[in-house]
Parts: sequence; C-alpha cells; structure tokens
Amino acid sequence: MLKIAPSILAANPLNLQRDCLEAEKYGAYRISVDVMDGHFVPDITFGHNIVAYLHGILNIDIEVHLMVENPSSQLELFLNAGADVLTFHIETLSDVNRLIDYIKSNEKKVGIAINPDTNIENVEKYLEHIDELTVMTVVPGKGGQSLIVDCLDKVKQLRKIRANNNLGFDIQVDGGVKKENIKLVNNAGADIAVAGTSIFNSENSIQNNIQALMDAVR
Ligand code: DX5
Repeated sequence: MLKIAPSILAANPLNLQRDCLEAEKYGAYRISVDVMDGHFVPDITFGHNIVAYLHGILNIDIEVHLMVENPSSQLELFLNAGADVLTFHIETLSDVNRLIDYIKSNEKKVGIAINPDTNIENVEKYLEHIDELTVMTVVPGKGGQSLIVDCLDKVKQLRKIRANNNLGFDIQVDGGVKKENIKLVNNAGADIAVAGTSIFNSENSIQNNIQALMDAVR
C-alpha cells in the first residue's frame, strides 16, 4: 500500500503542531520537511529547530529533504534535532559516499533525490547503499506545482533495477501528488508519496484530504 508523507511546506506555520498531529492521527506515514537554503533553490524555508520541535510531539518519523547546496554542512544539525531520514540531492555534486556513510553511522536512513532532468544512471551505483530514492516529479523549490508524469517512468525503471539486483531501497515520489493523479504514482510502483498542497492547503480537512489520497489507490 502506497504510504502518504505530508509535506509541511504547504502547511500554515502558525498551525504546524495542530496540523502535523492531525496528519499523524489520520494515517500519515511520516512528515516530510522541505529544507531550502536560497541557493540550491531560490526559497528559504525551515531550520533544524522545527525538526526538533516536531520530533518532540510526533510518534511518526520525520524525513528531512535537504534542498541545499552543501548538505554535509547541515547533517549534524538535523540528525541532532531528531531527523529519521535525511534526503539530499545528487545534483549538489557532494561527496555522496561520505554523506551516505555519515548518515548511516548515526543509524538513520539515507535518501537521495533526483530532479526531473536527472537520469537514473547518475545514481544507479549508490542504490545498493541507500534506503530511499526520491524521484522529484516537480522542479524542486516550490509547492503547488503540477506533477510531471514523464518522471514516473523513472519509478518503473527503479522498480526493475531493484528487482533485478535484489535491492531494498524504497522509491518515493515528491511533487504535485493529488487525488487525481496518485493512482498513476501507485501504478508506477512508488512506495511513498509526498504530498503538501493536496493535504494542507485546500478547503477540506487534513483528515479528508489524506483519506481521499488513500481511497484513490485502494
Ligand atoms: C518541492 C517540494 C514539494 C513538496 C510537495 O521542492 O519538495 O514537492 O514537498 O509539495 P506539493 O505536494 O504541493 O507539490
């Protein structure tokens, strides 16, 4: 069953505690925190202190999606704050193996994210060493965008690679997921779907929005 990970990027920061607890109550697999540094992507969003506060009130995991130019400079801060999964972008041209080793040495999960214009070939050699691969279905940096359907071909490709090589990483899709297209995400073979606008930023309740996503893939 596809797991739903609400992204607080779309939530009203003044209601974060209430909204994240409601998301947890109504079936969120975990909370996704989009960290942006104004360099890798134009916007600036959350710091590690938000993760620390959320860690203090939630029982579900927190995934930190580092949309930052220098992820290695942020790892310790977010690990100490209580992040359970740390996802960095392959496009940052960091020392990927060192990042993977550092996160693993702290007994947390490692995720790599790839932008819509990044091919699977760029990350294939890391797949055996990571816990998750996030296929961005929007250009990172903004919530509320439309899902780029062609990116779902990468999910299908990853499924084949995982099966053919007996690997265990999860496949996450992030960007533009809503009840009208989540069946495509599920049919492509994703394990986790990040959703922000379709959960936090609409006229319906968080409960109804999560339920609508789940119902759409039953
Ligand atoms: C883009 C963000 C968004 C967010 C989900 O940088 O990563 O994809 O998590 O936002 P929605 O669901 O509004 O596209």
